[in-house]
Amino acid sequence: MTDTTELRPRKLFIKTYGCQMNVYDSDRMADALAPHGYEPTPVIDDADLVVLNTCHIREKASEKVFSELGRLAELRREGGRDFTIGVAGCVAQAEGEEIARRSKAVDLVFGPQSYHRLPELLSRVRRGTPVVETEFPEEDKFEHLPLAQKQVIRSRGLTAFLTVQEGCDKFCSFCVVPYTRGAETSRPLEQVLTEARRLIEAGVRELTLLGQNVNAYHGLDAAGRSIGLGELCARLAEIEGLARLRYTTSHPSDMTDELIAAHRDNDKLMPYLHLPVQSGSDTILKAMNRRHTRADYLRTIERIKAARPDMALSGDFIVGFPGETDADFEQTLSIVREVGYASAFTFKYSIRPGTPGADMDGQVEEAVKTERLARLNELVTAQMRGFARACVGRTLDVLLDKPGRLPGQLGGRSPYLQAVHLEASADLIGTVQPVLIVGAGNNSIEGKIVTHAERNPASVLESQELAAISAALEHTRT
Ligand code: 5AD
Ligand code: SF4
Repeated sequence: MTDTTELRPRKLFIKTYGCQMNVYDSDRMADALAPHGYEPTPVIDDADLVVLNTCHIREKASEKVFSELGRLAELRREGGRDFTIGVAGCVAQAEGEEIARRSKAVDLVFGPQSYHRLPELLSRVRRGTPVVETEFPEEDKFEHLPLAQKQVIRSRGLTAFLTVQEGCDKFCSFCVVPYTRGAETSRPLEQVLTEARRLIEAGVRELTLLGQNVNAYHGLDAAGRSIGLGELCARLAEIEGLARLRYTTSHPSDMTDELIAAHRDNDKLMPYLHLPVQSGSDTILKAMNRRHTRADYLRTIERIKAARPDMALSGDFIVGFPGETDADFEQTLSIVREVGYASAFTFKYSIRPGTPGADMDGQVEEAVKTERLARLNELVTAQMRGFARACVGRTLDVLLDKPGRLPGQLGGRSPYLQAVHLEASADLIGTVQPVLIVGAGNNSIEGKIVTHAERNPASVLESQELAAISAALEHTRT
């Protein structure tokens, strides 16, 4: 029997913490609720349902949830208005019952594998009891999640995320993901293609394929054959209207020859790769259970650059993992210098209960972590600026995807995921234009559209351009 109370219009407010996979999941939750009369609102005070889509990766991320729940409880008590409070995401998965115990205001706690059951879970909440749902259900949630309406996709912009893989079997000793997101699984090829076609028909020009360990993708095709990420990208590139493809996050051990060859052969795959190394010290990599050495990582990068010489790299780094000495940390600085990153994310090691790292000897003092993080940040910031400066004078293909901050301006993305702003007319939104980069700020670069005739003839970097980038990076090594 249908619950008719669900059909009157209701407002949904989702607050998303953490990674891009949560951003994607929040949209899919909204899609699951749309047929039941829920419309998204950006105003929390208007909401009938507030969902916190949480992140458990580091302690700080996790703690934010409890302070937000305190605020919501107060809003409900003192605002004189009733609304339902749900907690989703990795904190929900990891701490289900504990959340319901710590915060009496919470009506619903549900893990990432239950998003397709959200309408049904809400009906149970309406019957009066708080619901905690953190089992990994048998059914495939993606088979049950409705695809978004075209106008909803359009309202989300011209670039979109598409989760193709979930979970992780790597068990790095610092990381909660294998526990919160479960075993590694890949969505079947046809399911991914169907969702991609819908997004592209609605106007999406750039897709970023997501997975906690996305390059381990091994989905089945219609014939039951397992295919890798390189082949998936080839199939997606065939869809007319798609201009660009990216994927994140990758593990160095899963950079197969097939995937690397795709970077040479598939011109829709952008020359920017997020490939975390975490540490430059073999001792620490071993303790982290990373399953690769420093030399393995550097060799992988050489293979990638041989296939795609203009590949820009991005990374994640953890400082202060248990047992990390000054000498180990110096190794991290040295691998950063050796690779030269276009972008980097740096973190202090954060103890995650239940992971092997939490019980290791040699936990590093907070003050030491702080000092190491500051030194690493100084280096990566200089590299990022050097990379941006080295783009000045080059012509880059820019996907213009939104109006700019000032009238007459548009915003877009370079192949290297840099935010670009320039003056251009709004009818160019959705197109890829050759843009001469004329300036580099801290968070974006500035350019002007050049005609195709003026265009730098080489679409891949020429040797003098590569030399300019190397020189800029070299400058940061002092
Ligand atoms: N402490 C600090 N950083 C962590 N990360 C994952 N777990 C931890 C932790 N316990 C970082 C890693 C990972 C990124 C998403 O978050 O660098 O690549
Ligand atoms: Fe976590 Fe990534 Fe390691 Fe998997 S590969 S355990 S997601 S850091």
